[in-house]
Amino acid sequence: MERTFIAIKPDGVQRGLVGEIIRRFEAKGFTLVGLKMMQVSRELAEKHYDVHRERPFFPSLVAFITSGPVVAMVWEGDGVVAAARKMIGATNPLSAEPGTIRGDFGISIGRNLIHGSDAIETAQREIALWFTPEELVAWRPAVQPWLVES
Ligand code: RTP
Ligand code: MG
Repeated sequence: MERTFIAIKPDGVQRGLVGEIIRRFEAKGFTLVGLKMMQVSRELAEKHYDVHRERPFFPSLVAFITSGPVVAMVWEGDGVVAAARKMIGATNPLSAEPGTIRGDFGISIGRNLIHGSDAIETAQREIALWFTPEELVAWRPAVQPWLVES
């Protein structure tokens, strides 16, 4: 089953949007299989954002993601990687469509509230980076037949 890595960044936590963001993924019908609040280390931040290492905004990115608690999650469901990106919206919240998380709650690219894996392979890398296998719980929601035709 497809899984994606989602992180509510320090601004999302500080602004009290943890419940709202989890609510949206639950209401959509995806399954939560991993969840933890954590203070991100510099080492983890640099590994997570390794593809951006050469970008001018890399230092501020690492400084921001380590500046306060983050809520790290793994969500499961067919098509969850691409669907989560749509629910999150464009990188710059001012360009993000209303109805998306960034479109509804943000105004600045450096405070865009949430991270979502951008491809299935990226999701696999990020899930392995942020979670141990024991921290992930495989379960089948009782509501599944009402969400997916068998
Ligand atoms: P994310 O990885 O956080 O889900 O965001 P994304 O895919 O939409 O954007 P990405 O290109 O991966 O960039 C990662 C994060 O870096 C910050 N950023 N700042 N100042 C800039 O031009 C700039 N560009 C990107 C954003 O916080 C973005 O989420
Ligand atoms: Mg990205």
